[in-house]
Amino acid sequence: MKRVLTYLFPAGMMISAASLLFTSCTKEGPQGPAGADGKDGADANATCTQCHNFEDMVVAKIFQYDASQHATGDYAFENRNSCAPCHTSQGFREVVITGEDNCAEAIQNPTRIDCRTCHMIHDTYTAADWALRTVAPITLRINGETLDLPFGGGTSNLCAKCHQPRARTPWPTPGGVDSMNVTSGHWGPHYGTQSTMLAGMGCFEGVGGKTAFPNSPHRNIASCSTCHSASAVGNMTGGHTLWMENEEEGENLAGCEAADCHPGIEDFNYDGVQEEVEEKMHHLGDLLEAAGFIDEGWHIAPQMFNQDDLCIVWNFFMVEYDRSLGVHNGKYTIAVLDNGIAHMEAK
Ligand code: HEC
Ligand code: HEC
Ligand code: HEC
Ligand code: HEC
Ligand code: HEC
Repeated sequence: MKRVLTYLFPAGMMISAASLLFTSCTKEGPQGPAGADGKDGADANATCTQCHNFEDMVVAKIFQYDASQHATGDYAFENRNSCAPCHTSQGFREVVITGEDNCAEAIQNPTRIDCRTCHMIHDTYTAADWALRTVAPITLRINGETLDLPFGGGTSNLCAKCHQPRARTPWPTPGGVDSMNVTSGHWGPHYGTQSTMLAGMGCFEGVGGKTAFPNSPHRNIASCSTCHSASAVGNMTGGHTLWMENEEEGENLAGCEAADCHPGIEDFNYDGVQEEVEEKMHHLGDLLEAAGFIDEGWHIAPQMFNQDDLCIVWNFFMVEYDRSLGVHNGKYTIAVLDNGIAHMEAK
């Protein structure tokens, strides 16, 4: 990656010339603009160098991105048509255009989530291509509701398109009467519940008549980038690494301190929220395990479920997979856990 961009200027000029030659025999693939004829001494590929240059900003972003989880490409092999929208670059770009939940087919030669997954790279071949592929509100896969996180220009909606839970069958309703048979040990929201937790959505409300879970102000005053891309500490946290924490450098609190939100904050466990969430999550986990609903490893134990119980199991997984221990939306997270504990203790 680093090599590609650094040495690309001369290569880019050759390839853009070559792409003209190959146009006649290739059906697809972006073709660079022809470039000015250069009679008056103008650079024929001036627009390419808006990005293919040695500017610190671009070099730093690459340095940071290279240390991110996305850059590992660890799960790009999940290229089936139902997995590719979130696990491959091509699949994501396809569903941004089609608006479908799944790709038409499996993605051949899948690539990892990279610059062009999120940015419009090689659309106009100018710096305008740093624009994000999408900042539009998303339609949640689980229930068709609209999730919109407008703060920061909607950049969180880009993340939310992938970092959202996935629908499962059977799908319970709070207060639903008939029992439901869960047959898969993978039943649950899948991993990326963060955007819905930040937005205060995606958990079942209404079990035991408990509705209107409260929200922390974060959803209206912070974007994913505010916290995860706060000023970079080398390539360890912040910036395009998207890491909040690093073993050596500890927690990156720059985002928390932004705009004077939490001046002088000492750690993520602000007001003891993470501690409270962790304690309540384990309490609920113990209750669910004692009831035989989940196993020791916190996976669902397939069986016939009462619908309210299944709602509570879902809510538990939503909090577990969020992995911020309440930082994304403390009030909501605690309300969800309290509701689950009350339900299980009343049984
Ligand atoms: C908006 C910034 C931007 C502009 C303008 C731009 N590029 Fe790129 N280009 C990139 C980035 C970023 C990558 C790396 C993409 C990746 O790996 O995710 C790249 C990669 C490439 C590659 C490597 C192969 C590939 O597609 O990954 C070639 C060749 C290339 N660019 C040629 C060009 C040419 C020729 C132009 C001008 C006609 C141009 N680029 C204009 C940002 C840009
Ligand atoms: C809506 C987007 C989306 C879809 C569709 C999706 N995933 Fe994922 N998946 C994610 C996200 C986001 C993560 C990482 C979340 C995190 O780290 O918190 C993830 C993580 C994973 C992991 C890693 C779990 C771990 O232990 O770290 C595996 C394995 C996985 N997905 C498999 C699949 C398979 C198989 C499919 C298709 C059947 C699929 N995913 C479909 C978004 C998706
Ligand atoms: C997971 C999505 C994602 C990936 C992957 C990604 N970016 Fe970004 N990038 C963003 C977001 C979001 C912003 C805007 C942050 C903000 O404004 O809060 C951004 C901002 C930028 C900017 C500043 C643009 C401007 O208009 O000021 C540059 C330059 C940039 N990214 C380069 C890169 C490069 C180079 C790569 C690949 C090495 C890359 N990005 C990969 C999401 C991504
Ligand atoms: C194309 C789908 C997609 C987009 C867009 C996306 N992510 Fe991810 N993200 C994933 C998947 C899938 C994983 C985990 C699997 C992997 O690729 O290793 C992941 C992993 C992560 C991780 C590391 C989690 C861990 O510990 O494993 C963070 C942090 C993260 N994403 C934040 C973001 C943020 C912030 C944005 C928006 C700027 C974003 N992501 C945009 C799909 C996406
Ligand atoms: C208010 C700040 C804040 C906002 C906003 C925020 N996050 Fe986080 N996020 C955190 C913190 C803090 C953690 C926990 C990090 C830790 O304990 O190491 C975390 C954890 C995560 C993780 C688990 C992996 C990791 O780095 O620990 C993912 C993935 C993630 N967030 C994605 C997102 C996405 C996607 C968004 C936007 C929809 C988002 N976050 C919004 C602060 C934030």
